[in-house]
Amino acid sequence: MCVSNAELSDSESTLEPKLRLVHQNGLDFEVPSRSMFDGSPSRRAFLKAAVAAGGAAALSACLDRAPADPVPSGTAEFDTLPDRQHAWNDVCATDEHGNVEVPYHHVLLYLDVSGSGPPTKTERATVERAFHVLDRAYERTHEGLIWSVGYSPRYFKRFDESLPAEIDLPEPRALSPFETPEFDRQDALVHLAADRADVVLEAEQALLGERDEANGVAVETDLSGVFSVADRRTGFVGAGLPAKHQSDLNGIPDGNPVPEQSPLFMGFKAGFAKNQATEDYVTIADGPFAGGTTKHVANLRQRLRDWYDEEDQYHRIMKLFSPGHAEQGLVEGIGENLGDDSGIDTMLDRIRDDAEAFGHVGHAQKAARANRDADGNVKLLRRHFESADDDVAALHFPSLQRGISDFEAVREAMNGTDLTEIPTIRQRVNNGILEYIFVKHRGNFLVPPRRLRALPTPTGDAPMPNE
Ligand code: HEM
Repeated sequence: MCVSNAELSDSESTLEPKLRLVHQNGLDFEVPSRSMFDGSPSRRAFLKAAVAAGGAAALSACLDRAPADPVPSGTAEFDTLPDRQHAWNDVCATDEHGNVEVPYHHVLLYLDVSGSGPPTKTERATVERAFHVLDRAYERTHEGLIWSVGYSPRYFKRFDESLPAEIDLPEPRALSPFETPEFDRQDALVHLAADRADVVLEAEQALLGERDEANGVAVETDLSGVFSVADRRTGFVGAGLPAKHQSDLNGIPDGNPVPEQSPLFMGFKAGFAKNQATEDYVTIADGPFAGGTTKHVANLRQRLRDWYDEEDQYHRIMKLFSPGHAEQGLVEGIGENLGDDSGIDTMLDRIRDDAEAFGHVGHAQKAARANRDADGNVKLLRRHFESADDDVAALHFPSLQRGISDFEAVREAMNGTDLTEIPTIRQRVNNGILEYIFVKHRGNFLVPPRRLRALPTPTGDAPMPNE
């Protein structure tokens, strides 16, 4: 959804004020508002639209509706912040089963370093000072702001030296025989995430030098002299948001089929704690980038007409989880009853039998085959969220792992090409959810430890401003 303007108007039919969103194409609609932090789907719908629109007008629309609650402040005691930029789990909300819920609102800023060649020490100092503004301004929690910055293989090519051999960071490539993605080779990716839309927007503008203060902290330094914005993508996740936006989006059929409580467009929960790698597991253990991780970010378009119009819940469960899940009735509704474990591990050995007997294999069932190490540990930490950029239903799929090869292996397993020798399984039909998702972008990034987050060299040097 693109929103060129957003304003409040009073409802005549209810005591609640209503939001009026005015689209670029001149159409408008109203969404009833509740208190700023009631977390209601309609409230978050408005904020999601504002994040997608970006810019000063969107921010001021959010700020006009700013809650009485202040945004918790950050710290100038930078050493108290974790060295792992990807240490998000402890500062995210969790559900009643202990599953981590990433914040509601997200902005992905793809940045290019303005000059050619290696960045200077002065540029590094500028970048670190700009990042310090965010550290000072916002508590590093979902109620404040959680964020990270990563660097691409192309960024590291600016230097004469190479990354250490143990850093597994290839250029992005097509990971299935049936995809033709654009490759994200921008120098850096800043990922901003917060429960409050006004926070992600304000943080973005502070970084880009478009405002003088952020949550009461002066923006003394910003990134604008060092980086330019090559691309900006937005998203949202959480119960209610996909349902609220379904009627406006290409890729979602008429009839509002997305369940109200689903955090994702496809109608189910994902990211159960026991099916996720730990942050420890995805952390690079040795070398100059110890404490860092690698991040693959895919962007997938979703076309869910047949998903909702031709499949029933039984077959959706079969395709997303496994035939065993459908047969045994393991998934109720959006899958809340699964607790902290999808239960997929008991379904792996039977995948070929399932293909023969049911004519289907499950998405999680296929992917999990490559997502365990020899000791049974899960390899990938998925932190995906939905997108309505350009009025298209899509998924931003950031995945953290020690090395990009781990991601590539899981994606290959998810392709299920090995299963197509069974007559009922075609490359994109009866093969998990491949019929409904289309990869548009892929990018690989190294997320260095915090001490190296400002324009690191491949050998792990990034002097702080006070050095
Ligand atoms: C619209 C797209 C997608 C949806 C709706 C989706 C949904 C799900 C769901 C519901 C599960 C089972 C619950 C869980 O363990 O989280 C799952 C598992 C998983 N998915 Fe996806 N997924 C999508 C795309 C992808 C992509 C692109 C990948 C890339 C490799 C992927 C990798 C995985 C992995 C690794 C698992 C865990 C399997 C295990 O237990 O090891 N998914 N997904």
